[in-house]
Amino acid sequence: MEDNNINYEYILRYLKRTLRADEGHIEDVRRVAVGMNLPIARVETVRFLQTLIASSNAKRILEIGTAIGYSGLSMLEAAGDDGHLVTVEKSPDLAKLARENFEGKKVELIEGDGVKVLETLDGEFDFAFVDAAKGQYGAMFDNLMRLVKTSGVIVSDNVLYKGMTATDDLRERREITIIKRMRAYLDMLCNDKRLVTSIVPIGDGLAISYIVRKD
Ligand SMILES: C[S@@+](CC[C@H](N)C(=O)[O-])C[C@H]1O[C@@H](n2cnc3c(N)ncnc32)[C@H](O)[C@@H]1O
Repeated sequence: MEDNNINYEYILRYLKRTLRADEGHIEDVRRVAVGMNLPIARVETVRFLQTLIASSNAKRILEIGTAIGYSGLSMLEAAGDDGHLVTVEKSPDLAKLARENFEGKKVELIEGDGVKVLETLDGEFDFAFVDAAKGQYGAMFDNLMRLVKTSGVIVSDNVLYKGMTATDDLRERREITIIKRMRAYLDMLCNDKRLVTSIVPIGDGLAISYIVRKD
């Protein structure tokens, strides 16, 4: 395990051996995803999502960026038997695998670009997890605000992007546009009076935005 420019390696190791490990089907899906080199959520991120979902009694969950379903299954586990997940994945190949992994679960998997799919969705969600193309979070924001209820939570992943969001010293040239967009996105989340937002430096950086009001 390497230092990810967000937390020290010894902290990451400690979290990994201390937090509860995945079991059963979720562990099988995690292993397949790791074998495919997919950038799935780390254990500390997943346990944090589960804690937020369980403590807020969130049931209707929206996710952008399914991959093969690891984080989705983990969020559903925390939501309990009456939980329901709507999840959006752009890649047809990953969506196909996710569909198999979600079999028998209360999941609606929509294949497509999250920016476009969100425009077509209706309903009210308690919780949203945004874990897709980092440069597009800003374009999804208005629809996320429309779809997640007042007192709901939007969690955005990868907001510190290997530390590059926080300092130009780490910035890779080809990532300049994404980093600019991520900084603008975080500025917006932090200054929007309808939200209370915190940025938590675990995993690749999470922004937690609680919706206080919509107007
Ligand atoms: C970091 S992975 C998601 C990992 C997953 N949330 C997990 O932890 O198990 C990001 C996923 O978002 C998908 N993606 C990228 N851009 C997207 C978009 N605009 N709309 C929907 N999915 C997108 C990618 O194909 C990829 O599967």
